[in-house]
Amino acid sequence: MFASAIALMRLPFVRATPLNQDLHGVKTVKTIEPNFEVLDSVDKLCATWLGHAGFLVQLPGEAGHRPRRVVFDPIFSDRASPSAWIGPRRRLPPPCKAQDLPEIDFVAVSHNHYDHCDLDALTALWKKYPKVEFLVPLGVKVILQSVGILADCIHECDWWDNVTFPPTDGCTASYSFTCTPAQHNSGRGVMDQNWSLWCGWAVQQIHADSPVAASAYFAGDTGYQTANGACPAFKEIGEKLGPFDLAMIPIWSGATLTIIGKMGYRLADDTHLATLHATPEDAVRLAADVRARHALAMHFATFAGTDDEALEPVVRLAQAQGGTADWRAEGGFGAIDVGECVALSCGPAT
Ligand SMILES: *[C@@H]1O[C@H](CO)[C@@H](O)[C@H](O)[C@H]1NC(C)=O
Ligand SMILES: *[C@@H]1O[C@H](CO)[C@@H](O)[C@H](O)[C@H]1NC(C)=O
Ligand SMILES: [Zn+2]
Repeated sequence: MFASAIALMRLPFVRATPLNQDLHGVKTVKTIEPNFEVLDSVDKLCATWLGHAGFLVQLPGEAGHRPRRVVFDPIFSDRASPSAWIGPRRRLPPPCKAQDLPEIDFVAVSHNHYDHCDLDALTALWKKYPKVEFLVPLGVKVILQSVGILADCIHECDWWDNVTFPPTDGCTASYSFTCTPAQHNSGRGVMDQNWSLWCGWAVQQIHADSPVAASAYFAGDTGYQTANGACPAFKEIGEKLGPFDLAMIPIWSGATLTIIGKMGYRLADDTHLATLHATPEDAVRLAADVRARHALAMHFATFAGTDDEALEPVVRLAQAQGGTADWRAEGGFGAIDVGECVALSCGPAT
């Protein structure tokens, strides 16, 4: 039972040794209180990490109009599992409740694993903002419908499909979502393994007859390596849809159960999982392939079993970039705190 929850707690484990490497000035991420009030007055692309793979992305606003907002893979539950009692438990609290998020226009889900498709969060957002449009990969629509979300506002896509939402309320920008390939698997139980699709999402803000005004890429849960080297899909995403002002990319393979961490054990070497989960080193290659102008790390620390396990992925991310993990730099890749909101200026595609 609960195969995907179990999948998050990878076996086998090895005896943990303390991090004794140069930390490159990297600090352990924490949860801070978000300030969503500032968002209404910012005309840049803004991103707030909601913990694990959850992100709130705001596209640049148009004068006199509320900016449009997208939430990716929100999870606010205490555990990433179908049960309130077992399954991976949070190490970092969520920054707020789902219903505390500012008005949302779109929610995009990457696949049906419990840590990415949290029905409590999706239901809460839908109840608070009934006009929200959901974007999901093939086979995930029925899961959202099972909690009462109306079919009309769920857009189900295959890889490379796009859905374009035309301008509303006197605005001029349309918003195009493209379902992008990822290398992963799916399943919420034993019987539905790989029955539904997994994906990433590219969102582009487009004004008629102009270059893309702002763009973001959400990688979902994905590996980078295949049995024959790098997965070619990411270069293709970069060629077709890049460059991206912002990319959100996972940097870690899965959680050691807290109780196992407390006993002094940790995950074994993760290379054998590199086809399902990008390592920090792979994540840097992935960011370059998709042509990310700035990349933010996700899918780490939130459910990690120990402090070292929360810190190490970012230390490796810095090592893989010559000792720095600065998302502000052009082409840079770094981490922000849960609840932290950062603003990026956007450029037309070059
Ligand atoms: C959406 O897909 C159609 C058909 O493949 C394509 O012509 C169009 O350019 C795509 N739009 C965007 C914004 O990617
Ligand atoms: C699910 O798909 C992945 C490919 O991403 C594959 O490695 C795995 O063996 C598949 N699992 C099942 C049960 O078919
Ligand atoms: Zn997953």
